[in-house]
Amino acid sequence: MSQFPEYRPRRLRRTAALRNLVRETRLHPSQLILPLFVRSGKGIRTPVESMTGVAQTSIDEMLKDARAARDAGVGGVLLFGIPDTKDATGSSAWDEKGPVQEAVRALKREIPDLVVVTDVCMCEYTDHGHCGILRDGEVVNDETIELLVKEALSHARAGADIVAPSDMMDGRVAAIRDALDAQGYQHTPIMSYSAKFAGPFYGPFREAAESAPKSGDRRGYQMDAGNGDEAVREAMQDVAEGADIVMVKPAGPFLDVIHRVKEATGYPVAAYQVSGEFAMIQAAAERGWIDGERTMMDSLLSIRRAGADIIITYFATTAARLLAAR
Ligand code: PBG
Repeated sequence: MSQFPEYRPRRLRRTAALRNLVRETRLHPSQLILPLFVRSGKGIRTPVESMTGVAQTSIDEMLKDARAARDAGVGGVLLFGIPDTKDATGSSAWDEKGPVQEAVRALKREIPDLVVVTDVCMCEYTDHGHCGILRDGEVVNDETIELLVKEALSHARAGADIVAPSDMMDGRVAAIRDALDAQGYQHTPIMSYSAKFAGPFYGPFREAAESAPKSGDRRGYQMDAGNGDEAVREAMQDVAEGADIVMVKPAGPFLDVIHRVKEATGYPVAAYQVSGEFAMIQAAAERGWIDGERTMMDSLLSIRRAGADIIITYFATTAARLLAAR
């Protein structure tokens, strides 16, 4: 190791041009994915109170947001559906005319070069708000998988480029892979929410997706925030079951997990900067307590530096525009 005064790290920090030259981590719009919340109807744009700039939209309005994202260079969108009806088994999840299925068709018709990812989960479709079938206060694993398979297949049939199971049931990746292969969708990749931690960071999303559990919480199926080793095991397991991309979520509070999962798997890693992370930055910026744009950019760069290849973020279009302007 060279010592002061020979080694002076500040030499390369003197000008913006020098800093740009030696920056190790960069963001590119094509690595960003924008989540979108779709529902039936026309001309609908209902703002989500706790997420400035985010709205539930009908498909015609959603296409405007998707076009804006694509024009800014954003790589893809992640679709969540708010169905017209909910029941105990979430049967509207595999309705061929459901909001997600219709949105996928519209997107592939209108903006074919934008990657369309669909969230595969039951919580938006069940009347109790849990991510699967509820029995005696518990979400039953193996029966839930059968429903997730139906949902994933209906997304693939509609033309989804990637399906992304977020339910955290054990064994769902293998079951979805088998079913996709058997039905002729060998080329549809699975982006698995592998290390999805239970906790308060999803609060604003549950308003956006109308998916808050009516009783209890998700700690019986989502991961405990203290567990890094288990996160690596989950990711390795999903890779063994056939996942093509593994995800860590939330992103900012779990940068160590992103790093470990990337090192352990060597697979493409996605990180989801979730609603709570987004809302905290927006809220502080609205109060004038932090610089919103710079905090957004630093938060995204940190997620990349930790090892994420793909970032799912509500900032996707805003960040992409800023990157293009630089
Ligand atoms: C569905 C799902 C959730 C999120 C993504 N998929 C909510 C949850 O698990 O309660 C959260 C995304 C966010 O907070 O931005 N299970």
